[in-house]
Amino acid sequence: MKIFVTGVTGYIGGSIAKQLADEGHNILGLVRNRNKIDKLQAIGIKPIVGALEDENILIQSTQSCDAVINAANADHRESVDIFVKALRGSGKTFIHTSGSSVVGDDALGEFESDAIYTDDSPFTPISIREKRAAINNFIRIAGVKDGFKAMVITPPMIYGEALGLPAESDQLPKLIRKSKEKKAGIYLGKGLNRWSNVHIRDLAVLYSLALKKGPSAAMYFAENGENSFFEIAQSISHVLGFGGKTISWSIDEAIQEFGDWARFALGSNSRIRAVNARNLLGWTPRGESILSWIEKSIMRP
Ligand SMILES: NC(=O)c1ccc[n+]([C@@H]2O[C@H](COP(=O)([O-])OP(=O)(O)OC[C@H]3O[C@@H](n4cnc5c(N)ncnc54)[C@H](OP(=O)(O)O)[C@@H]3O)[C@@H](O)[C@H]2O)c1
Repeated sequence: MKIFVTGVTGYIGGSIAKQLADEGHNILGLVRNRNKIDKLQAIGIKPIVGALEDENILIQSTQSCDAVINAANADHRESVDIFVKALRGSGKTFIHTSGSSVVGDDALGEFESDAIYTDDSPFTPISIREKRAAINNFIRIAGVKDGFKAMVITPPMIYGEALGLPAESDQLPKLIRKSKEKKAGIYLGKGLNRWSNVHIRDLAVLYSLALKKGPSAAMYFAENGENSFFEIAQSISHVLGFGGKTISWSIDEAIQEFGDWARFALGSNSRIRAVNARNLLGWTPRGESILSWIEKSIMRP
């Protein structure tokens, strides 16, 4: 299959592109940094120079491919509108990458929520996630109305080495860096908030399965475990040689450094269950747990 993938120099998009290239698919990858062209070619990805803002490039690439996987930016509505326009009536597959902070709360680390969401559970997003949730709904409905196969894959916290070009995930690297700086595993509030998590290899396989046999309009949560931020902080602390020492990082300081991201990515609960992926696609994640990965993979300072 000929597949147009966005975000190919990044963590998720690069991993999906490498997985699909290794499976024998013909991968065209959107790249805005010309310095990375040779490196992409070396791992079997054909670079298309451009950005999400380049309407003509997105349209031409969509029209020349059998499927599109969008993994550059979960919140970029303008490019989603362009893809939907280009896919109208084509019957082609469009897989959009979202993120499980759509079901997150504003716990600021103070409590463990008992709200656990499956793929189609109703939820009301917190204000900073309304736009992302609206994009997901828009895509799923557009696929049905406009005659193409639309799916949304929603990962939670992701861990594991990138499969494509060197790139890092979102939450863990920042937690690790801040823990090194503070010489203790860090969390917000009481660290009781929980997030689901998934290994990047398992996530990449999920895209492949969705491409092969995913029904249209489906949402796929991707998850294979769940931990509190306190548990993660303890694990990071042990590995960094801080003897399990943990500290609560000031919420004000965290927001000053990371803005709203600290609230929805470090302070919230985001507990999901990947029911559709397992039941509709037969997805069987095999990656080691996040705590075991932290133990093996983090370097001491
Ligand atoms: N990592 C996680 O744990 C996680 C979990 C759930 C959801 N998400 C969401 O999934 C999306 C991708 O995450 P990621 O971790 O893979 O991010 P990443 O490593 O920063 O990669 C983003 C990729 O998208 C490209 N990109 C961004 N804006 C672009 C634009 N306007 N035009 C063309 N290319 C553009 C980047 O290109 P450059 O190399 O040129 O910057 C890079 O290749 C994000 O929206 C993120 O919030 C991430």
